[in-house]
Amino acid sequence: MSNYRIQFCLSMFFLFSNICFAKICLPRKHVALFVFGDSLFDVGNNNYINTTTDMQANIPPYGETFFKYSTGRFSDGRVIPDFIDMHFYAKLPLILPYLHPAYTYQQYINGANFASAGAGALVETREGLVIDLNTQLTYFKNVHKLLRERLGEAETKNLLSRAVYLISIGSNDYIVQVVGNSSAFSSYSQDQYVDIVIGNLTNVIKEIYKKGGRKFGFLESGPLGCLPLGKMLANGTGSCWEDISALPKLHNSALSAVLQKLKKQLRGFRYSYTNFYDLETDLMNYPSKYGFKEGNVACCGTGPYRGFSSCGGKGAVKEYELCDNPNNYVFFDSAHPTERANQFFAQQMWSGNDSVTVPQNLKTLFED
Ligand SMILES: *[C@@H]1O[C@H](CO)[C@@H](O)[C@H](O)[C@H]1NC(C)=O
Ligand SMILES: *[C@@H]1O[C@H](CO)[C@@H](O)[C@H](O)[C@H]1NC(C)=O
Ligand SMILES: *[C@@H]1O[C@H](CO)[C@@H](O)[C@H](O)[C@H]1NC(C)=O
Ligand SMILES: *[C@@H]1O[C@H](CO)[C@@H](O)[C@H](O)[C@H]1NC(C)=O
Ligand SMILES: *[C@@H]1O[C@H](CO)[C@@H](O)[C@H](O)[C@H]1NC(C)=O
Repeated sequence: MSNYRIQFCLSMFFLFSNICFAKICLPRKHVALFVFGDSLFDVGNNNYINTTTDMQANIPPYGETFFKYSTGRFSDGRVIPDFIDMHFYAKLPLILPYLHPAYTYQQYINGANFASAGAGALVETREGLVIDLNTQLTYFKNVHKLLRERLGEAETKNLLSRAVYLISIGSNDYIVQVVGNSSAFSSYSQDQYVDIVIGNLTNVIKEIYKKGGRKFGFLESGPLGCLPLGKMLANGTGSCWEDISALPKLHNSALSAVLQKLKKQLRGFRYSYTNFYDLETDLMNYPSKYGFKEGNVACCGTGPYRGFSSCGGKGAVKEYELCDNPNNYVFFDSAHPTERANQFFAQQMWSGNDSVTVPQNLKTLFED
């Protein structure tokens, strides 16, 4: 904020009853956005951790459409939270990843993004390679502590209770359970495993609630077996990969049930839940209905459906194909939507009707 803005804001204090602390002024209705989750929400946190190349998207052609350089987002451009930021903050600069060295206290007032590509709700999911949900919660608690030191207890509580908390988590827990090395849970039934994932997510929601969080937005798990990656694993026959198909569905109905329960249990708890599974399936099956040309094959990658994630060529496989125009595609790489598809998903979270986003959309959560 420029000095002029600060002075102006201070002088307007009584007129518009903005809330000012030190040199920072917040409009009374200021709503911060805190983001937790996986690659669908990560804006570059994984650039700052020691991990493997497949957990990072800091190489072209990632980012080519919007940013013209690779930011760490798993897309050709913006990801879903970027569009929510822009809707709400009226085109102010996009939020930096929490781990970005230039990300400072002053920006916490607008919120923070803790999401990490590859992360799950369980510590064991890609342990040591990602920022798991519990560590993301620890980061949030650090932010809470700093805010409290600067703003005091009451105003911090105020800020955090007006804030919106976006969460997209679970898909990686299921991918790892089926294709990975998660021996810790190999003897668990699918129902038992889903219960553990949802149990950990529920704990995190309750911890955020304890710090003052009241308004939550959830993206459910997508049709993992039908993404280009899943179709490739099904040997390119065109059908979805059945081994993983049941898990996201179990997750989504368990999550939806838990949220209804929390709404009764926790005073003031409100949420917005978007039927991402059905939306993404519809985009894949009827791309032209939404202005896309290709719903099944990824824009960037190799193999059947370009379902092998060699996009950028940073891993063992250097070769990859790249489409001419990502805007024609639903998927940019084997598992991640293009910027254009992300914009559609963000719109549906923001202002989707009640057959898509229930029981209320993000716009109404932000506004009241
Ligand atoms: C990452 O790895 C490098 C080299 O092994 C090491 O020097 C550095 O301290 C590590 N950074 C973190 C954050 O662990
Ligand atoms: C599973 O673990 C083995 C040995 O630790 C390793 O060589 C292999 O790459 C791992 N597979 C996956 C999919 O992580
Ligand atoms: C959370 O996950 C751990 C494994 O990381 C598991 O042992 C624990 O039971 C889970 N907690 C809940 C409440 O489900
Ligand atoms: C794909 O083909 C391999 C080799 O023939 C086979 O082992 C595997 O079970 C097949 N996978 C699916 C999902 O059909
Ligand atoms: C709700 O939104 C979806 C997705 O945009 C659309 O397909 C559907 O027709 C809408 N339903 C109603 C009742 O407006």
